[in-house]
Amino acid sequence: MIALDGPSGTGKSTVARRLATALGAGYLDTGAMYRTVTLAVLRAEVDPGDAAAVGQVAEDVDLRISTDPVDQDVRLGDESVSAEIRGQAVTMAVSAVSAVPKVREVLRLRQWRIIEDVCAVQGGIVVEGRDIGTAIAPDAPLKVFLTASADARALRRANQDAAEGRRSTLEATRADVERRDGLDSSRAASPLQPADDAVWLDSTDLDIEGVLGRILDLVDERGLRG
Ligand code: DC
Repeated sequence: MIALDGPSGTGKSTVARRLATALGAGYLDTGAMYRTVTLAVLRAEVDPGDAAAVGQVAEDVDLRISTDPVDQDVRLGDESVSAEIRGQAVTMAVSAVSAVPKVREVLRLRQWRIIEDVCAVQGGIVVEGRDIGTAIAPDAPLKVFLTASADARALRRANQDAAEGRRSTLEATRADVERRDGLDSSRAASPLQPADDAVWLDSTDLDIEGVLGRILDLVDERGLRG
C-alpha cells in the first residue's frame, strides 16, 4: 500500500497511475470519488452547503470506480461520468462537498473496502488523495507528500485543461488552485495535511519521470516490490 497525497497540479494522478502500472498494483483515485459524489449532489439540485442533504446523497450514491491504472473509469450507476467530474461545475463545488463529515465517513468506508479487496487479489495498491497517509491508511509502509510551487501547479492544471478541451486562463486556473488549496487545507474533517512520517517530494523542477524515479527508489529502499 502506497499513499500519495498532495494538492492539485503536482502531477499526483499521472505519477500514481504510472507507479501502480510499474509495480503491477491496483490504483485508487479518491479525488474522483469526491468529485462523483459532488456531481450527484449537483444533479439532485442539493445545496452543497446543506450538510445533512449532501450526506444523504453520499449514502445513496451508486458510485463505481475502476482500480485499473491504465483503464480509469468512474460511473454513477451505469453512466460513465469520468469527463463530467473534471468540469468546472464539479471543480467549483467539490471542496464544500468533501468538507462534509458524513461524506468523508461514507467514502472512507468505501475506500477501505476497495483497498482490502484489491490488496487481496493483486497484492498491492497505490492510493492518491489528500488524507490517505493521515486518515485512510495511517499504517501504509510508504507515504509520499507531493508538492510544487503554486505557479508550477497552475501551469500544469492549465495545460491539462487545454489538452482535455476545457477552456481556462492561467490566472483563473491559478485562482482556482489557490482557492481549493485554502479550503481543502483549512477544513475541520481530515484536512489536506502531510502525515508525520510522509516523505516530502517537491516536483517543481522535476518531470514525471524524475518524480517516478524518486518514488521507485523509496519503494526499493523499503523492500516493497513484490
Ligand atoms: O485530486 P482532485 O483534484 O481530483 O480532488 C478533488 C477534490 O476532492 C479536492 O479539491 C479535495 C477533495 N479530496 C478530498 O477531500 N480528499 C481526498 N482524499 C481526495 C480529494
